[in-house]
Amino acid sequence: MSSQRFENKTVIVTGAAGGIGEAYARALAAEGANVVVADLADEKGKQVAADIGGLYVSTDVADEESAKALAAATVDAYGSIDGLVNNAAIYGGMKLDFLITVPWDYYKKFMSVNLDGALNVTRAVYPHMTNGGGAIVNQSSTAAWLYSGFYGLAKVGVNGLTQQLATELGGQNIRVNAIAPGPIDTEATRTTTPKEMVADIVNRLPLKRFGKPEDLVGMCLFLLSDEAIGKVVDKGAKAAGSLAELAAGTDIVGICVLNDEQVRSVVTGPDGLLSTARPGTIITVHSTIGPDTAVDLAEQCAARDVVLLDAPISGGAMGAASGRLAIMVGGPREAYEKLKEPFRLTADMLVHAGPEVGAGTKMKLARNLLHFISFTATTEAARLAEAAGLDITKLGKVVRHTDAVTGGAGAIMLRETTATLDTDDPWYGIFTGVRTLGEKDLSLALALGDELGVDLPLGQIALRELAPGLGVPHLEGETA
Ligand SMILES: NC(=O)c1ccc[n+]([C@@H]2O[C@H](COP(=O)([O-])OP(=O)(O)OC[C@H]3O[C@@H](n4cnc5c(N)ncnc54)[C@H](O)[C@@H]3O)[C@@H](O)[C@H]2O)c1
Repeated sequence: MSSQRFENKTVIVTGAAGGIGEAYARALAAEGANVVVADLADEKGKQVAADIGGLYVSTDVADEESAKALAAATVDAYGSIDGLVNNAAIYGGMKLDFLITVPWDYYKKFMSVNLDGALNVTRAVYPHMTNGGGAIVNQSSTAAWLYSGFYGLAKVGVNGLTQQLATELGGQNIRVNAIAPGPIDTEATRTTTPKEMVADIVNRLPLKRFGKPEDLVGMCLFLLSDEAIGKVVDKGAKAAGSLAELAAGTDIVGICVLNDEQVRSVVTGPDGLLSTARPGTIITVHSTIGPDTAVDLAEQCAARDVVLLDAPISGGAMGAASGRLAIMVGGPREAYEKLKEPFRLTADMLVHAGPEVGAGTKMKLARNLLHFISFTATTEAARLAEAAGLDITKLGKVVRHTDAVTGGAGAIMLRETTATLDTDDPWYGIFTGVRTLGEKDLSLALALGDELGVDLPLGQIALRELAPGLGVPHLEGETA
């Protein structure tokens, strides 16, 4: 028997009379959900609902009254709503035309279904997600990133809509995500796309086959389920039904959402953390946001005796999994000290970046400046090696090996200042040695670039800037 993640849960799937939506509806029902099939294609929709013991509601996702009636019929039948999949779209049999020439009436109708439809149904449904929150999944497409005319444009809109709604509804514990499948073998695809085009698309796919609706089911059901949170609850964490409930019972709250707007909504939005946080609560912001946002939010928190610190993270998923993250904290030292014990569980490096909120973010930005300049330098070195006929994967092995031994770029970050060195400074001899070696090797690499016709602009800058950067500039008249 399959797992029953959706027992006592009610999920609406729009456009579920066939294709991908039907696959979602069937899989949800198999896992115990009360499924509401919402479509315009009444005959097929009724059949799917009857097969899975669900409810069919004839719905036009583009129509406000129709969407409200869908929500009302669902609540009548099942009490409340836990999930919504905005999958309906004009796709099967759609007009193939260009943005420049498609008749306005068709374009407007198309957008009202394929883009506004998702917003319209969400607006009607979310007030009924009263079981402590809910989950919404919007059906996007890889067409959003390819040339696909008005079809792709609507999916670009669906992506944006997903981000915006996630921000607006996050405070009510409603998760909003999107799935962007590549070409999927449904009747709609077969009728919409000319055969030769299908063959060409399949040929360009890495798997050399179309996806199947069933390939998408696992992701859709995961996003709708409480499974992600369930994993940590199984390990002893407590689940909170809302941000307000979370803040009311917690001393330290960490935020890891996407961007400034989302952080603002979590902290100061309606029913956000500040609505219930007790005096003395510490809020740490791990998302990389603008330093000004952190300062502004810290002021609003201080007015309620809540301390907000910025605490960006370095180390990625690998660091998190192994408990080896680095966390850079900006804000009062006293609050920082209280983080040491709990944060040691995920981070083996905790740094107090400075007493001002925003200092952690500035440190992270400097760290990432180095990171991405190095990546760019890597591409330049790889071009030189490639032009010299070398295997760049072997070069990569050598780089990773020696960086692990020497410490890479961080190996020279041991001084407390970037000021020019006095000749009697103990670092002077060491850095002039680094300068001599660096300038020799850079000159040889640039000469090799010249010989092979490879432009090495970062190498040129490095040869010019290495000496003053190290704090051991050449004397006037002396050259690198
Ligand atoms: N098939 C693919 O290759 C593919 C790839 C990526 C994304 N998608 C997206 O997945 C979704 C489903 O695609 P599919 O291949 O199953 O297509 P489909 O045409 O079979 O499914 C769309 C469903 O939406 C219904 N619908 C259309 N207008 C409606 C309206 N105004 N109100 C209510 N229902 C309406 C249709 O009756 C149909 O049942 C669409 O959003 C599509 O854009 C499909």
